[in-house]
Amino acid sequence: MSEEILDIEGLVRRFSTEAEDLVILDGLNLRVDAGQSLAIMGASGSGKSTFLTLVGGLDRPDAGHIRVENKDIVNFDERALGDYRSRFVGFVFQFHYLIRDLSASENVALPAMMAGESRKSAMNRAAELLGELGLGDRLNHVPSKLSGGERQRTAIARALINKPRLVLADEPTGNLDAANAGVVGGLLFSLPKSFGTTLIIATHDGSIAAQADRTCRLVGGKLESA
Ligand SMILES: Nc1ncnc2c1ncn2[C@@H]1O[C@H](COP(=O)(O)OP(=O)(O)OP(=O)(O)O)[C@@H](O)[C@H]1O
Ligand SMILES: [Mg+2]
Repeated sequence: MSEEILDIEGLVRRFSTEAEDLVILDGLNLRVDAGQSLAIMGASGSGKSTFLTLVGGLDRPDAGHIRVENKDIVNFDERALGDYRSRFVGFVFQFHYLIRDLSASENVALPAMMAGESRKSAMNRAAELLGELGLGDRLNHVPSKLSGGERQRTAIARALINKPRLVLADEPTGNLDAANAGVVGGLLFSLPKSFGTTLIIATHDGSIAAQADRTCRLVGGKLESA
């Protein structure tokens, strides 16, 4: 029997401006099994990034529950939520957000050091992980000396360094050409097998979504099976 990692119920997120009250997520429900990959598609502005931000503990919902391994992160205080973000979740975004003046391995090692690991140990693990992602000969390159696909693989290594149980990827291939998108997509979808992580990926790219165990579509503030 598979273990459930996520149970999201009645999730609501509104954004109020002077002119209007936008209800972006409107009672969204979702359950995900551990080790599963899920693709989320949907029109621009449908709320995919908003949703991933909530699941990753970067924002708080107006209503609903986000139970992660049976604990509702909606009830977490700031400290517990910070801990959840840094230890449980790995984020990959459309833009890599690597630090310009740090080498690939330093960028990857940073979250581990911030979580209290020694520089030596973090740098060793970063080198190992980058090697596994095919970047063993790019450890000392700064981001500007990496290709777009290499930068995104470095960002994936950074997302993985603290051994997250859940990887959230928001249009991770949106900025890449088709060949690099294929490589980065293939890599992300190998994570459940090779690292035992659960993967949720928001994408506009049907060929990326087709590799997921399951695809949903965000429509009218809710997720529908696609
Ligand atoms: N902080 C905010 N304040 C007001 N409105 C917001 C805020 N964040 C998001 N929105 C609105 O919420 C809606 C959903 O945005 P979101 O970024 O989640 O969409 P998306 O599905 O990720 O779109 P895309 O495919 O273009 O990335 C948009 O209409 C956006 O304008
Ligand atoms: Mg988005």
